[in-house]
Amino acid sequence: MANALSVDQQARAAKAYLLQELRTTQEGREVLEDKDFFGRVDMNFITIFGIYAELYGYRHDCLDQLVDLIKMCGQSWQARSPELRKLDKARELDPDWYMSNQMLGGVCYVDRYGKNLAGIKARIPYFKELGLTYLHLMPLFLAPKPLSDGGYAVSSYRDVDPDLGDIKQLEDLAKELRKAGISLVVDLVFNHTSNEHKWAKKAAEGDPEASAMYWIFPDRNVPSAFERTTREIFPDDHPGSFVQLKDGRYIWSTFYHFQWDLNYSNPAVFTAMAGEMLYLANVGIDFFRMDAVAFMWKQMNTDCENLPEVHKLLRAFNALCRIAAPSVLFKSEAIVHPDFVVQYIDRYECQLSYNPLQMALTWEALATRDASLLSQALERRHNIARGCAWVNYVRSHDDIGWTFSDDDAKELGKDGGPHRKFLNNFFVNRHPGSYARGVPFQDNPKTGDCRISGTTASLAGVESMQDHAIERILLAYSIAMSSGGIPLIYLGDEVGQLNDYSYLNDSAKMDDSRWVHRPQYPESRYAEKDNPETVPGKIYAGMRHLIKLRKSTDELSGGRAVGFYTGNNAVLGYQRPGSGSTILCLCNFSDYAQWVGRDRFLGLPTEAKDLWSGYTINLRDAGIQLTPHQFMWLRY
Ligand code: GLC
Repeated sequence: MANALSVDQQARAAKAYLLQELRTTQEGREVLEDKDFFGRVDMNFITIFGIYAELYGYRHDCLDQLVDLIKMCGQSWQARSPELRKLDKARELDPDWYMSNQMLGGVCYVDRYGKNLAGIKARIPYFKELGLTYLHLMPLFLAPKPLSDGGYAVSSYRDVDPDLGDIKQLEDLAKELRKAGISLVVDLVFNHTSNEHKWAKKAAEGDPEASAMYWIFPDRNVPSAFERTTREIFPDDHPGSFVQLKDGRYIWSTFYHFQWDLNYSNPAVFTAMAGEMLYLANVGIDFFRMDAVAFMWKQMNTDCENLPEVHKLLRAFNALCRIAAPSVLFKSEAIVHPDFVVQYIDRYECQLSYNPLQMALTWEALATRDASLLSQALERRHNIARGCAWVNYVRSHDDIGWTFSDDDAKELGKDGGPHRKFLNNFFVNRHPGSYARGVPFQDNPKTGDCRISGTTASLAGVESMQDHAIERILLAYSIAMSSGGIPLIYLGDEVGQLNDYSYLNDSAKMDDSRWVHRPQYPESRYAEKDNPETVPGKIYAGMRHLIKLRKSTDELSGGRAVGFYTGNNAVLGYQRPGSGSTILCLCNFSDYAQWVGRDRFLGLPTEAKDLWSGYTINLRDAGIQLTPHQFMWLRY
């Protein structure tokens, strides 16, 4: 029997072909001479080749496409500024830099928080005062108006929305932030473009090449077959996963009808998006927030979410960055079942990931006054791949979805369906005694699905002026600051920004309740931030204290957490082991004082210092009593 070629041998042959191709042009020869660059091609070639062959190997031009891709990487590397190359080197030598307890994230809309890029630049001193080292600017690229899904419908990845500034200003802002020790994060809206993107316009006109970049079908047959198994994401906008084009054809549109899903089974799409990514990397972006990644691959008879090919795509994109922009990292935005969230997290895929489970369960525990689900999640689902970090947040620009696992909940005697219903009712103030002032999002009577909008302060009880609201906010943020990973503040939360109902008067926003928690820069609340007599002042002082403590507590570096069973469901416990000492975090979710019995501390030293209050606590006395919503960071 003849010997078959192994992938390794095929990759070697492909590399020989690549070298031969590169030698034929001046540009190619320059790339070949760059030892650093070529070393990285060498290291990553087998990954890219393997993935490319799996996804696109059926095409006769697969290898040529791959060669073009590497050439594009070469050109991009040649164009990378000396300053960014220096950063690439520095981070190569300190690959875990983002695992430090010094890391603190902030996220905001450019227009709402600073009017434009110049306004954001002017706020750098405040970002420094707060201690930010990571700034996520919500989508700022050219997008249709007035409907753009908050910028998530991108019309050009190389042009900034002219109302916000231009690409030069973005580059300049990245530089200024870097000087201030702040990394810049922007969205890479990979899954779809807007219907005004030049590819989309051509596709709508019937251009065959452009049409092949999207999922377009002449009639309803295939779309209906796909829709038998796909989920409706924005049912308020359109049913199913497709919308109709003017010429009668149907186009895949997972989100709004003006966001059209790209077809990654076509390698031209992969190459085109890789080009956009590398272009932005050279503008000085440090992290890409990989938007809506779960939906990037479609396969008949599946739900078309989290398919194995999505991971291959992300790994291939990641490998391209390792070659052409080595310091650039990815954060995955997969707000899905926790079993799937974790599949995106890997040094070779997305080094960071939102932690939607911890976020949702923090709110769940606040509503139920029972921390058992959150405690289970911290013990069971918190520790992730080495060198990777959660991004721990309390609120984002999106709705809160109850993405916990029904099986996990069942173990604790909670029935997923009714429990979600309770949480939805609680947070939209349809439950007796609720303090929350949330608004339903995408309430789907067909499926009973619903999610929650609302700012942190409005959901925690500041808007309804109920007791313990400030304590709830600080409790929630204390967990984000201490559980391991990068804490992310939705800017304005640190002064208790409230729901903004003015979206109801704007026809472009009124049908999307997420705008309720995307208020304009809360000027009057910031004006009170240094006055401890005011609500914003109290929240701000608490947040500042939390941030300072986090940054001076080395044990909070890295991501590993170890569970701690408090024996009291209202009190969450977890530990953050450092070198030589450990922080034990205790959080009381109840509206009443709670005890953790002394037997819980028997294996611990006699005394421990609570870093939050500064008091030393005797662990041998009668156990620990926590006041309503009190938390402790005990060092032992
Ligand atoms: C992400 C964004 C969300 C947007 C969606 C479609 O989930 O966070 O705001 O609507 O992608 O782009």
